[in-house]
Amino acid sequence: MFTAARRFLLALVLIPASGIGLAAEPPLPERLSETGLGELETMPVTPRYPLWSDGAGKRRWLHVPAGQSIDASQPDAWQFPPGTRLWKEFAVAGRPVETRYIERLADGRWRFASYVWDAEGREARLAPERGLPSLPVAAAPEGRYEVPSRADCTACHEGAAVPVLGVGALQLADQLPALVRRGWLRGLPPALLAAPPRIAAASPVEEAALGYLHANCGHCHNDSGAPVPVRLVLAQSVADPVGGAQRVLRSLIGAPSRYRPPGFGPGARVVVPGRPQDSVLLTRLQSRHPNVQMPPLGTRVPDVDGLALVTSWINHPLLQRKDPQP
Ligand code: HEC
Ligand code: HEC
Repeated sequence: MFTAARRFLLALVLIPASGIGLAAEPPLPERLSETGLGELETMPVTPRYPLWSDGAGKRRWLHVPAGQSIDASQPDAWQFPPGTRLWKEFAVAGRPVETRYIERLADGRWRFASYVWDAEGREARLAPERGLPSLPVAAAPEGRYEVPSRADCTACHEGAAVPVLGVGALQLADQLPALVRRGWLRGLPPALLAAPPRIAAASPVEEAALGYLHANCGHCHNDSGAPVPVRLVLAQSVADPVGGAQRVLRSLIGAPSRYRPPGFGPGARVVVPGRPQDSVLLTRLQSRHPNVQMPPLGTRVPDVDGLALVTSWINHPLLQRKDPQP
């Protein structure tokens, strides 16, 4: 079904970013074991603010080729060397279902793939480019699991300044010293090593809520040129934490809603402090109707904990004082 969000995202995928005229890329390996996982040197990485994927358990690994390193001198847009590889395993009820794979090729292009595990958990094989919309997995919601298409990978991963979403200064704040010790990270502003970067927020609830929105929404809703047609900025900035958080709050609090869900009138606003039920943001987060749900991809079940967090932030007394249009 082509919902409004999908139409915009497909348009984004169809614009060739860099592919024209470049040599054909080597074919993707058929098996996960051939991507180097288990053989190459890897470091497990855990983002502070994870993406909600219907409760799936996740593990992630990073590989940087020998003698190379990530350039962190722009703290909001790390530059990864060719040969960088990243894996993310999704498990349902403790059993691995798919492992997603991102690789930076020698010519600088990125590629995305997913590998689906066999029932014994011995080997995972390359999923088709169109994904697997309905893989039977007994413990998944309604007994099925969706492996995204490669167009869905790029819809999320190529809407941000850098297509690696969870390996950056804010998300790996506590792992920065380990990356530097390994020789995989250079150019990081020393202040970020001395004090791990954090979101500038008025309260712990606000910090957690903004972190949640950064991880789950910021890859599409940011101001690095993402062609999503709403003035909503949910990505935080490490280079300018205070200005970045203010930009996010300005785009939310009292901001007029351009795409109102059913039931909202012409004066609808994205966030109305103290009134979660009147905040378009919360309705879109809660809904799983294909025309309304946010994020539009990668989930079929609302995130109960995420909803509770964003609700308590909207209800927080400190936020009500910030409302520009009471
Ligand atoms: C709904 C948006 C979305 C879709 C669709 C999506 N991803 Fe991601 N992915 C993310 C976010 C956000 C993160 C970082 C947060 C986390 O890992 O919890 C991430 C993390 C990853 C990572 C770890 C490295 C990194 O970028 O942090 C890999 C590998 C990955 N994704 C591969 C894929 C592949 C391959 C596909 C398609 C088969 C895909 N993803 C589809 C949003 C998405
Ligand atoms: C894969 C890209 C993508 C992701 C991820 C995403 N969005 Fe969106 N969002 C869109 C697009 C495209 C639109 C405009 C079309 C529409 O309204 O469906 C939109 C519209 C919205 C709107 C309507 C704004 C208005 O002015 O009415 C809200 C609110 C919103 N998103 C919130 C979120 C939240 C909260 C998250 C994370 C939980 C999120 N989005 C994640 C692509 C995305």
